[in-house]
Amino acid sequence: MKQFAKLLLAAMLPTALAAQQMQSIFIYSPSPKDGLHIARYDGNAWTDMGQVCASDYGNWGSEKRMYAPSVARAKDGSWRLVFQVNDRAPLFAAAYSRDLITWRPQDYPQVSTSNCLKPVVFLTDEGAFDIYYQSAQGKRYVSATADFRRFATDEASQISDDAWIRDTATIANVLREGNLFEVSTTEVEKLLHHFKRQAIDSRVSAERMHNDFERKWNAEGGTIQATLTVGRQEKAISDKLIGIFFEDISYAADGGLYAELIQNRDFEYSAADRKEWTATTAWHATRPIRVDTANPLSANNPHYAVIHADTLWNDGWDGIAINAGEHYDFSLFLNNRGQKKSFVVQLMGTDGKVLASTKLKTKPDNNWQQVKAVLTAKATDAKCSLMLTATGGAEVAIDMVSLFPQQTFKNRKNGLRRDLAETIAALKPKFVRFPGGCMSHGDGLENIYHWNETIGPLQDRRPDRNIWHYHQTRGLGFYEYFQFCEDIGAEPLPVLAAGVPCQNSNANTKGIGGQQGGIPMSQMKNYIQELLNLIEWANGDPATSRWAKMRADAGHPEPFNLKYIGIGNEDIISTAFEERYEMIARAIRERYPDIKICGTVGPFHTPSADYIEGWDFTRRNPDLQYMVDEHYYESTGWFMHHRDYYDNYDRNSAKVYLGEWAASTKEKRPNVETALAEALYLTDIERNGDIVEMTSYAPMLCKDGHANWNPDMIYFSNTDVRTTPAYEVQRLFSLNSGDRYVASALSGVPANMKHRVGASVVRDSKTGRNALKLVNALPWPMTVNIVGINIPTSAQAEGFSGQPTERKLTVKAAEAGQSVTLPPYSFRVIAW
Ligand code: AHR
Repeated sequence: MKQFAKLLLAAMLPTALAAQQMQSIFIYSPSPKDGLHIARYDGNAWTDMGQVCASDYGNWGSEKRMYAPSVARAKDGSWRLVFQVNDRAPLFAAAYSRDLITWRPQDYPQVSTSNCLKPVVFLTDEGAFDIYYQSAQGKRYVSATADFRRFATDEASQISDDAWIRDTATIANVLREGNLFEVSTTEVEKLLHHFKRQAIDSRVSAERMHNDFERKWNAEGGTIQATLTVGRQEKAISDKLIGIFFEDISYAADGGLYAELIQNRDFEYSAADRKEWTATTAWHATRPIRVDTANPLSANNPHYAVIHADTLWNDGWDGIAINAGEHYDFSLFLNNRGQKKSFVVQLMGTDGKVLASTKLKTKPDNNWQQVKAVLTAKATDAKCSLMLTATGGAEVAIDMVSLFPQQTFKNRKNGLRRDLAETIAALKPKFVRFPGGCMSHGDGLENIYHWNETIGPLQDRRPDRNIWHYHQTRGLGFYEYFQFCEDIGAEPLPVLAAGVPCQNSNANTKGIGGQQGGIPMSQMKNYIQELLNLIEWANGDPATSRWAKMRADAGHPEPFNLKYIGIGNEDIISTAFEERYEMIARAIRERYPDIKICGTVGPFHTPSADYIEGWDFTRRNPDLQYMVDEHYYESTGWFMHHRDYYDNYDRNSAKVYLGEWAASTKEKRPNVETALAEALYLTDIERNGDIVEMTSYAPMLCKDGHANWNPDMIYFSNTDVRTTPAYEVQRLFSLNSGDRYVASALSGVPANMKHRVGASVVRDSKTGRNALKLVNALPWPMTVNIVGINIPTSAQAEGFSGQPTERKLTVKAAEAGQSVTLPPYSFRVIAW
């Protein structure tokens, strides 16, 4: 074990700094939720400069806390940070920074003790680090490598309690504990510059449209006279810019796009899904329903109900909506234990009237059997119940009670709700990312989405809890996702975990939350094989591949032609992530070199630590990703003031998939303002369509009364589907996309308004169709004279305008021509 020595501050100074003018800084945490702050001393007093990083450990509710941070400086001038995450977890947080501003995504080294309190870090003479902590099992010691990537197993320590004596400083009249350092004036200036830029960024990002009338524009009123000069320069851009991201969030799958009308059809709901749920949730009966597991229909579906001559009814998802004259497929698995048993199946309307009815007879059998019937609705009702009455005295076990409209999307069995699927299909998305973001990497290791558990007979699919606090039947599984992609002509983009669960995961039984160290290395081989099997299942030859045969047996002998696979979802780019991502990507590369791998660069845009580390990792490993998935949900002001975001991206690096994005206001609903901000940004995305390969708005679907997230692109209930302004922008860009970008420049707009106007010209080289988009997010009309390109009289235009806060808009035909006037707050597409 290394010897502890409390070094004098001056002795800790990197030699390069020794000759420079020095200033004192104090690194501390004002409170566990406030993360790491820096204060500077101006000769008289300490002043807080701001926050440089925060805890990224565990869930968003009670976790994400930083206790007792301890900082050390490395010999090369870089920084190391350790802190306690709570008083229960057997781990501590560790981070690294070159400049005190960007802190490498945190690692959470695990220790052998039951908890890990007040870790403190010291530089060793050799340039590595000693970490000491306190625990229920006494004082312990961990050594760390200089790069802070490797942490040895902890051992007992006799270190003196002096190791925990902290420096102090009085900041805003409060005495704080922390670490005091002497740093160069240049370093302090960099910090000041950073905080100044941050303040400017938050100020401009707060810009909104609804209060435009209060703003001083210095050039008010009248019509803005602009000229759009279209040049001769063209470049190739992605022909897949607009796609969709489907996540089972806010009841998007069960109770949503998946057309099953019975809730908890498999009696598999449990408190793991939601505290108050049981195996009989959504079911009612004249007497308590007995649930058994002794002789299940499938090991993956252990629970079933046992009834006598009872009547059971099911509420569906907030009721069962039916339409007069339509047919509904009912099916049920039962085990009558060799006794004669029959059933009456009815749909009971809101007013208690029977709206559909049928009888079912069963063969006496000691095995499970499936019985089916068709119910025809006599009337339309938005809130029916399904009633199932068993006759005869003997007990009968029932499971997988299902009711499906025959009219699904493309009339597929086990299909999708037609109105929702058609609304999605009308976007003509070029790709579909599925099955989710957080839902895909899951709440802890046990909840990682395993695609192979979602295919095959419905009763054999393994249901699971949904990270968004409900249940996944997996009736909408990988087969159905791929089929949907094919049905709407979109490329499938499955995204699966990079061997780590969501960084916001709750703690497991050992008290370990967050990424939980990732899938243990001993299990990574199997996990990698699981991902390789997906490619085989989707693309393989049923004659030679067991996995491809499963696809064929399910009804799709032809390959699905999978071209892309996403590995990871906005993961924190920790060491655990990087190691596992690399293993997975190498294996895919080696076995399926043509598959385009999509990596991930964390949940936020630049300058977030994950984004920086993620892109560094991408550049260090250019063969491991064809593109990387960026995510950012931002204010309308942010989008309007970051229009050049992709302009300087390295064209020789990986492509970008902007996999989750949306503009929002405090109201958290799509409106004309958010739609215009998104339209502006999309004109810039088209300009950068040579580096940005794909984009998808998120989230896509939200069922009324079950929102996990707002804003969303499409809201729905059991009976209606409501598109939003965000939807219209996505649709107009998708239907008017191209694969060539034609250079253009908008002039004549005053400098302080430029971020509010946008234009983009694209051409589809296959059809020869041109599309010009114009956005005016100003409170005044704007006339645009178009030069350099001839707008034929046959050109057609459509678009919308409205007040920023309006949530409903109508896309209407509009004026096309060489000179057009856009109303205030409007968007127009002219195509020819
Ligand atoms: O889109 C909603 C969530 O946002 C996704 O699950 C996750 O990837 C992101 O944080």
